[in-house]
Parts: sequence; C-alpha cells; structure tokens
Amino acid sequence: MPQLFRIVKVATTVAELNLILDPYRTKNAPVGFVPTMGALHEGHLSLIMRAKADNGVVVCSIFVNPTQFNDPKDLERYPRPIEEDKRMLESAGCDVLFLPTVKEMYPDGDYSTLKDDFGALDKVMEGISRPGHFAGMITIVNKLFMAVMPQNAYFGQKDFQQLSIVKRFIEMHHVPINIIACPIVREADGLAMSSRNRLLNPEERKRAVLISQTLFKVKEMWGKTPIADIKKFAENEFAKDGYLKPIYFEIADTKTLQPVIDTTKPAVACVAVFDGKIRLIDNVLLNA
Ligand code: PAJ
Repeated sequence: MPQLFRIVKVATTVAELNLILDPYRTKNAPVGFVPTMGALHEGHLSLIMRAKADNGVVVCSIFVNPTQFNDPKDLERYPRPIEEDKRMLESAGCDVLFLPTVKEMYPDGDYSTLKDDFGALDKVMEGISRPGHFAGMITIVNKLFMAVMPQNAYFGQKDFQQLSIVKRFIEMHHVPINIIACPIVREADGLAMSSRNRLLNPEERKRAVLISQTLFKVKEMWGKTPIADIKKFAENEFAKDGYLKPIYFEIADTKTLQPVIDTTKPAVACVAVFDGKIRLIDNVLLNA
C-alpha cells in the first residue's frame, strides 16, 4: 500500500538530533531549519515547504520558549497540540522534528539570556511593549542554531521585527547561516495566520478582521496621503468599535525600523492589538 505520509523522525535531545542529522551532513546534504513554537498552521507549513524545496533535509523545532514570554499567563495558555502538529509536519514532508524539553535547552535551570546590543532595532514596537522578549527570542534561536547547524533557516515576515533582529545577529557574529524571509500567509478574510488565533472566541475572531482590513487600506493610502493623516486614520480604525485595544501602530523603515518621514523609502506598517485577552500582531509592506 502506498504510504500517504512520511513519518517524521522525532529527536528530544541534541544528541539524538545529531545522530539523525550526521548521515545527511556527511553527504553534504544542506540542512534547512524552521524554528517554531508549535500550534502549527499553514503559515508555518509554508516555511517547511519552502525549506523542503531548497534543502536535502528539513528540521522543524517545536519549543515554547519560556524566556521570550514576558507575561506568565501568555506562556501558560500558549496552545500545545503536539499530535496534531506531528500530523501537519508529516503532511508537509518535514523530515525531522526537534522537540526538546525546557531542561534540554536551559540546562541547570540557567535562564540567562544573551545581552547583544541591536542598536535601535529592538528599542521600538515589540521591544517597548514586551521588555526582554527579543533577548529571550535570540537566546533560543542561537541555541537552536547551535544544535541544528543548518545551512538555511526560514523565518516569516509576520514577525517582521524578529526577522530583522535575527538577520542583524547573523551579521554581527558572522554566523554561516542563510536567513530566508517568507511572506505572510493569511486566512480567507485577511487575518494573518497565528497560533494565537485559536485562542480567540468566535466574536473576537470576527472582530480580528479589522486588523488586516485597516493595514490594506493604509497600503492604498500610502504615497497619496500625508503620513500623519494615515497614522491618525489607522489609529481611529483600530479603536473604531471599541473592541480591539491598539498597543502600537507604526510606519517604519524596513531596514532601521525607525518611523519613516519619507514615503519613497521602503516602509512597513506594523500593528499590535489586544483582541480580548489575546495579543495579535500584523504588518504590511508599503512600497517594497
Ligand atoms: P512562532 O510564532 O511559532 O513562528 C515560527 C515561524 O513561523 C516564525 O518565523 C514566524 O514568523 C512564522 N509565521 C508565523 N505565522 C506566520 C504566517 N501567518 N505566515 C508566515 N509565517 C508565519 O516566531 C516564533 O515562533 C518564535 O519566536 C521562535 C522564532 C520559534 C523562537 O522561539
């Protein structure tokens, strides 16, 4: 009988991961890596499929990283549907799942985080509203890079600021890994796919469409309307029916992430809102 899905090999320790990957490394098969926190959706799978097209072997990690959560409730409620995730990885053709424990990634209870200076990149948007988040994120990404040692690593533009910081880290430390940026995958109504979407109740889910709708309108206004007016428009839209609680809305330079004043420069409109208790982010490239 033909096998519908390939079985994904699971490693829970770095030693097991090396045992699985060494034969590929010996054959010089490029290793593609997709780090995730699980609760997988089509956005994650698009990264896996891109990695599959580019590499000899694809590793996906699922690890809900405690050091990047600044709200303990957010960490606690983060969804962990591991059996469903495994099936999704198999359907996308992922070869290896790295599923470490917290103890494996932070031995001896050492939760210290990297202290890299990313200049202005981590001092805006998510950096202001989630103190310590990027230090925790880059710490685990670095540990995962050391464990997997991929040639290529895939990140979504959904987390635009995260992607900028990872790229900067790679440049700063001369890490020999190519970072491949992948476009945002959206639901049919425009909502950016996110693991947190499954925590929304039906009412909250309906309201969430306002986030992408507003960003798409901002994109239409770009170049025709003064930036200050666009910002005012967006802030009013997000707050319109009083359900979403905007955290920030910024139009940022795609390289520096600083607020843009010149509409001819490549820019990205970024937003974070609370929809009920759930924090959602989204962005749209304006003139890339
Ligand atoms: P997570 O939120 O699970 O996202 C894993 C990867 O999937 C990230 O690169 C993210 O940008 C990408 N992604 C999420 N939603 C997407 C969408 N709708 N379209 C395209 N790509 C999408 O980001 C993290 O985990 C963590 O911070 C991590 C990098 C794993 C470190 O812990």
